[in-house]
Amino acid sequence: MSGHVALIGAGPGDPELLTLRAVRLLDTADVVVHDALVGAGVLALAPVTAELIDVGKRPGRPTPQELINALLVHLARQGKRVVRLKGGDPFVFGRGGEEALALDLADVSYEVIPGVTSAFAAPAAAGIPVTHRNVSGAVTIVTGHRHAGAQPLDWKSLAKVRGTIVVLMGVANRSMIADELIAGGLATDTPVAAVRLGTTERQDVVRCRLDQLAGTRVESPAVIVIGTVAALELATWSPTVALVAADGSMTS
Ligand SMILES: C[S@@+](CC[C@H](N)C(=O)[O-])C[C@H]1O[C@@H](n2cnc3c(N)ncnc32)[C@H](O)[C@@H]1O
Repeated sequence: MSGHVALIGAGPGDPELLTLRAVRLLDTADVVVHDALVGAGVLALAPVTAELIDVGKRPGRPTPQELINALLVHLARQGKRVVRLKGGDPFVFGRGGEEALALDLADVSYEVIPGVTSAFAAPAAAGIPVTHRNVSGAVTIVTGHRHAGAQPLDWKSLAKVRGTIVVLMGVANRSMIADELIAGGLATDTPVAAVRLGTTERQDVVRCRLDQLAGTRVESPAVIVIGTVAALELATWSPTVALVAADGSMTS
């Protein structure tokens, strides 16, 4: 008896940003193994019969990656249709590659469904295009958090690209990031926007200059956009998560 695992990008929060394929696979899931950032509106699309397993990594309550890998293999070997729901895109700082490798090694059938990454969707939800003709011709997505022992990022070189820098997981290290980018040549008045919980009903946007970032209150989870485009505020849409009731059911 052999099951199947779908590694699915759940997008940044708003359920309407799921792909059609994600919705179709969710609808037939026996088990949904999900991250902390996957919202109630998305989980509400799983069948009521599906078992929901929260393996979200939270401060003070980490779920070791090896345990998640082993759980996916175990569930698939029980013949289950497993949906592994990860925030944003599974392959953008989502450790989706590690899970895919583990399934590969265990000879478990799996597929990967890309999702809308918060790196682009959170800025868009705040009215910020990450590239803009004649303003920014490049966008670099970086992590602001390196695990112990990892090679540090070369922030000073990033400052020289002259494009947009989108930082994920950068809230705690924002002071260091701003200092390094300024030391690398970015102007102190470079516009910055921090978008917290982008595309959800709790979205919050804070704007400042690069030299004000350290002293500006920003809370996780947020995407920090650094560059001229961060000053833009184009039209946005209203998140549909407002239509999801507290118990997770859809109200329309
Ligand atoms: C472990 S990374 C996962 C990124 C995810 N795979 C993606 O493609 O969006 C988690 C970080 O993504 C960012 N993030 C995820 N969802 C977000 C949202 N709705 N609004 C703002 N930032 C978000 C935050 O920087 C958060 O700390």
